[in-house]
Amino acid sequence: MVVSKAVIPVAGLGTRFLPATLAVPKVMIPILNYPSLHYCLEEVIDSGITNIILIISESQREVIESYFIHHDPLVSALTDKGNIDLLEKVEKIKSRAQIEYIVQEQPLGLGHAILLAKESIGDNSFAVLLPDDLILGNNPTIKIMLGLHSIEGEAIIAIKKVGSKTIPNLGIIDTSDSQGQIRQITGMIEKPALPDAPSDLAIIGRYILPADIFKAIENSRPGALGEIQLTDAINSIIPTRGCKGFIFEAHHFDVGVPMGMLKASIHKALSDEETKKELKDWLETVE
Ligand code: UTP
Repeated sequence: MVVSKAVIPVAGLGTRFLPATLAVPKVMIPILNYPSLHYCLEEVIDSGITNIILIISESQREVIESYFIHHDPLVSALTDKGNIDLLEKVEKIKSRAQIEYIVQEQPLGLGHAILLAKESIGDNSFAVLLPDDLILGNNPTIKIMLGLHSIEGEAIIAIKKVGSKTIPNLGIIDTSDSQGQIRQITGMIEKPALPDAPSDLAIIGRYILPADIFKAIENSRPGALGEIQLTDAINSIIPTRGCKGFIFEAHHFDVGVPMGMLKASIHKALSDEETKKELKDWLETVE
């Protein structure tokens, strides 16, 4: 089945990025000069998906929409100066993608945010990307996952080996396979205590999900904080649909927290010869 739509939920409160998120949506905070949302959209578009559903909060709407609006005076000024490279990158996203905005009135959880895309998605499998998980590589991770999506209706989730310190903060999978880049997932648990963790493989924010997930979310009960979790819904479709985990190889940064954003910015700066030199020269002067 061809996956032609992607859902990108960004309506969370971004409390781990306060106080910046009082005024700026987390996905618009830049990694060097591009907001994290830009990288996520590029990953989707470079994977061949052009229908993108952004789940936003009402307060984010103006700022996020303005990123995709054609700014005539700016374009003319840059064209006159022969300096339109950066704007072209943004134009590329606008011209190659169709973005639908859906407002989540209250941040009732990731599961709830995904459920809002039900009507737009219809009966087909779809991709979900969480921009907090920035994945940088030559080959877009979601594109590789689309290539693995051979069995109709099967869910596919990006996973990564993590250290024991971080396990209690993440969603962790249980698997019947002990090796290989692709693992059969038998269950998953959100933020387990270390002794209860079924593996050291964490769920990272890239998913391909069947449309059955909507019914499963509707049947899920809110968790302790009143949030509707996606993990619970995926768990409930594993027996009927099956679920695979894909251990991706590209660089991953948790840009939902300031230190992850800083590391991603440094990684970006070091991957360009000009900025690399400037950064390294400066670092040598730092005590
Ligand atoms: P997180 O819970 O990890 O991030 O949601 P958050 O809520 O933005 O930030 P913190 O935890 O308060 O610091 C994972 C993804 O799901 C979206 C978030 O925007 C993020 O992209 N999300 C979460 C929603 O769209 N709606 C929600 O109700 C909850």
